Amino acid sequence: MINIEIGVGSAHEQVDDGVVLPVLKGGVFTASGENLRNMQTEIMDDVLKTRDIWGNQGEYYPLYRLQGTASRSTMLLAAGDEKKLTLHVLRSLSAKLTKDLSKQGVQQAACYLAELPVKGASVADKVQAIGEGAYLGLYTFNHHQTTKKESTNGLQCLRIMLTSDDAGKEENAALVKAKAVALGTIFARNLGNEPGNICTPEWLGEQALSLSHPKLNVTVMDKEDIEEAGFTALLAVNQGSAKEPRFIVLNYQGGKKDDAPVALVGKGLTFDAGGISIKPSAAMDEMKFDMCGSAAVLGIFKAITDMNLPINVLGVIPSTENLLGAAAYKPGDVITSYQGTTIEVLNTDAEGRVILCDALAYAVEQKPCEIIDFATLTGACVVALGGQATGLLGTGEAVKEGLKKSGRHTHDRVWELPLFEEYQEQIDSKIADIKNTGGREAGTITAACFLSRFVGDVPWAHLDIAGTAWNMKGTDISPVGGATGAGVRLVVDYLSRKIEQA
Ligand code: BES
Ligand code: MN
Ligand code: ZN
Repeated sequence: MINIEIGVGSAHEQVDDGVVLPVLKGGVFTASGENLRNMQTEIMDDVLKTRDIWGNQGEYYPLYRLQGTASRSTMLLAAGDEKKLTLHVLRSLSAKLTKDLSKQGVQQAACYLAELPVKGASVADKVQAIGEGAYLGLYTFNHHQTTKKESTNGLQCLRIMLTSDDAGKEENAALVKAKAVALGTIFARNLGNEPGNICTPEWLGEQALSLSHPKLNVTVMDKEDIEEAGFTALLAVNQGSAKEPRFIVLNYQGGKKDDAPVALVGKGLTFDAGGISIKPSAAMDEMKFDMCGSAAVLGIFKAITDMNLPINVLGVIPSTENLLGAAAYKPGDVITSYQGTTIEVLNTDAEGRVILCDALAYAVEQKPCEIIDFATLTGACVVALGGQATGLLGTGEAVKEGLKKSGRHTHDRVWELPLFEEYQEQIDSKIADIKNTGGREAGTITAACFLSRFVGDVPWAHLDIAGTAWNMKGTDISPVGGATGAGVRLVVDYLSRKIEQA
């Protein structure tokens, strides 16, 4: 894992193999680049004037062994239009930078990206974004490739350069936070990327147990425990699978003893074939990612325990496969949930809401101050929002507003869909209390309507991460075809702000 530090000092004095200076559209340097230009006027002026790449965010112009500098190479990094700079641009640039430098065999680099002006952002915010980008950009998942060994020539150390006035406590804390958030995100990605034959409910339980902190208690219920507790909807979905289900409960007591916890509930479907209402085979392999809701919850627990956040958090994860064994639940079946509500199963592929309803009802019993659930719940959400935003629905106005704010800040974005009362009738059943599908229209909303029947009066936000949990095309911060860790940056930021406001 790369080592990231804060550094101070001018660009020409750095002995690192690589020194990275951002250049804005129009060929404008930030302070350190400008200082170097003053020393190297001819070469630098020439490069700035004759190359017009500075608007092409992420492009480089390398200057090797620039006279008067101590470093092997001075990389000019195009940062684009100053007006379009955001924390996420910094995060993406940093991810791209670390990947590229790594490929070029640069082992230590000093980067002056934090000098870029971002409206409304503190230096600490910028350090955090750059740090996150570096950790996340370098992420790979290749341990199943027997010939791909981790390269030792890659980037080992990145120094985020600040002025000595800026390099203080807050900036160092931001770096610690970036690392915790990134490691939480990476934990979630690793769980998500692991295939269904390895990432089984049992394995997921073991991963939860691997988290360790003096104030964290993890319990994993096996099938017998689940039967005894009466999580009957989870058991119904599990009927078609040869593998046992698990019900995972995490209790983090970082806050005051009697403070009500925030409950985080995550869908842990380790493989979703659809059940008897089987899915088409095209891209069915992607349904190994159907446990990314639970991965987000575990990633958040990893981050908040690393950060010792002073808050109480409850985690609840129902986990099973959805397969087509001889005992599988069938369309038309009526099942009774843990809460007592009866459910007419019209489509066995709408299994996420079925396992989540038991987990939500259990969470409500623990008297949380609010509930946030994470689920790759509906294909309809992918149609509505694509991969750019997580669907947000729910009854808790304050928690929803808080999540929107954190979404904007972290670029782990959310977009709200309505939960108007009128949608509820779409899940009325003729023979049971509710049915598990609401028809073709408003599929993401009717799935949330189903969940809403199980949260009582607890303020609740539902995050449908079906479109954001993995990314087939990849982004600067997340590799092609892999889990993204969606929800981790979002909710760690949300919880941090909640603590500040308390
Ligand atoms: N896990 C899927 C949702 C999904 C589909 C997520 C594609 C990401 C990409 C979920 O269990 C499911 O199958 N939902 C059904 C519900 C329908 C039968 C009401 C869906 O969206 O098609
Ligand atoms: Mn399904
Ligand atoms: Zn599913």
